Order: sequence, then structure tokens, then C-alpha cells
Amino acid sequence: MTDGEMPASTAGYAAEADALVAPYEALTLEQVHRQFLDLMPDRPGRALDIGAGTGRDAAALAARGHRVVAVEPVREFRERARLVHPDPAIEWLDDALPELSRLAWRDVSFDIVMLTAVWMHLDAAERARAMPVIAGLLAPGGLLTLTIRHGTVPPGRRMFEVGTAETLGLAAANGLATRRVLENQAAIIPRPGIRWTRLAFVRPGSRRRGRSRASAQGPDQAAVRTDMVEKWRAGEDSNSRPPDS
Ligand SMILES: C[S@@+](CC[C@H](N)C(=O)[O-])C[C@H]1O[C@@H](n2cnc3c(N)ncnc32)[C@H](O)[C@@H]1O
Repeated sequence: MTDGEMPASTAGYAAEADALVAPYEALTLEQVHRQFLDLMPDRPGRALDIGAGTGRDAAALAARGHRVVAVEPVREFRERARLVHPDPAIEWLDDALPELSRLAWRDVSFDIVMLTAVWMHLDAAERARAMPVIAGLLAPGGLLTLTIRHGTVPPGRRMFEVGTAETLGLAAANGLATRRVLENQAAIIPRPGIRWTRLAFVRPGSRRRGRSRASAQGPDQAAVRTDMVEKWRAGEDSNSRPPDS
């Protein structure tokens, strides 16, 4: 992507950015990602929100103590988001899938990467190019969440029907283990004709320890326990559907 060039996947958003601030900000991360909360890192780390929109989730991740990179290709969203969430822990970045060409230059990895209501804006070829880029940004033990919309396409937007098998296959091909598969889900504010798929993956490995007062002062038994639990979970249920799927 070059300066000023907007990907086709963002069709309709610049013109509607003003109107979308209120509905996007009316929800909370805890509502939208209720089914992922137990998987989320419980210690401050690095978070990446791709297609961050008005910054609702980026701000909530920052409030949880994470340093956040919020990628958003639509200038109108970035401008509004900075006003609504003027948090110095959030870095706003003008970048876009599938390449994330600006972020990809950095030597950085993330403990959590979120793609909320973004994946279905990419066509099949873009999704295939994007997954290795996204997987490569996950730290060992890092969590990737995707929510994918199905059904009516709002006028002026570009969306594709994305099958779950395709996403599971792309994730597996790029070394990610499936942690949650939730299909045919209602929207948070239920709307006729709209369903959601919610998926979570992890990069196998031990999650790195977040910074805490305790770890700065000496051995941190809580972090050791967290690592053990994560290893146990990864071994126990990677690549299988948990009871709540
Ligand atoms: C439905 S909005 C979701 C915004 C936010 N994640 C939320 O849940 O409120 C979809 C977002 O995807 C972004 N988007 C579209 N194409 C993208 C791409 N190629 N790379 C990154 N973000 C993209 C749009 O600009 C928009 O902010």
C-alpha cells in the first residue's frame, strides 16, 4: 500500500466513519469478545488490533495494561479514534492487510492479535496472503482472535462469505493451533439475517511473562503458574473443539 491509497476492502467506511463512531463505541470489548475472555493474556504485554476502527478494543486492551498497535487503513477512523481514545499506550498505524507492509518491517511480536469484523472484507487470495503475515506476528503462546460476519452486506461495503474450514486450514498451515470454534452466533445486538463466526488460535509455545511489580522485585510464582497452565492447556486441547464450541 502506498500513501493515500485505500484498499478495496475498506469500501464504504471513510464516508460512514462519523456515523459509525456511536454504534461501535456503544459496545465493550467484554461484550464483543465474551467468549474469548478466558483465553486472553492476564498480564500486560503487546497487543495488535488489525482493522481497529474507532479504537474501542484497542482502548480496552490499553486499559488492561497492554502496549497496543492499532492498525487502521481508513484515515477518517484513525482521526476519530485518536479523539475518542487519546491513550498514549495506543500507537495508531496506517497500514493494511494482506501485507501489513509497514508493520512487517518491525522486529516485533504480539501476545494478542485481534481481527474483529475484518476478515470477511478480504477476498480469498488476500486471506491466503494475510494469514502467514498475521501468524508471523504472534509471539509463542500468543492468541489470535477473529470474528467473521455472515449475511446481509450493507450498501457500499465489500464483503465475502468465508467458510470456517478455510480459516481453520489457513491457520493450521501457518502453524497455529485452534482453540475455539463458534459458528452461527448471534450478533451482540441481534439483527435478523446477520450471524457471526468467532475463532481463536494460539501460536504453540510458552507465553512470555508480562511485566509486573512482582517480577521486577524477584521470582514471580504467579507467572510460573500461568506458564504451566498455558502449557497444559495447549497440550490438552489444541486442534480440538472445546465444549463451548
Ligand atoms: C466492521 S469494521 C470493525 C472495526 C473494529 N474492529 C470493531 O470491531 O469495531 C471493519 C474494519 O476493518 C477495516 N479494514 C478493512 N479492510 C482492511 C484491511 N485490508 N486491512 C486492515 N483493516 C481493514 C476497516 O477500515 C474497518 O475499520
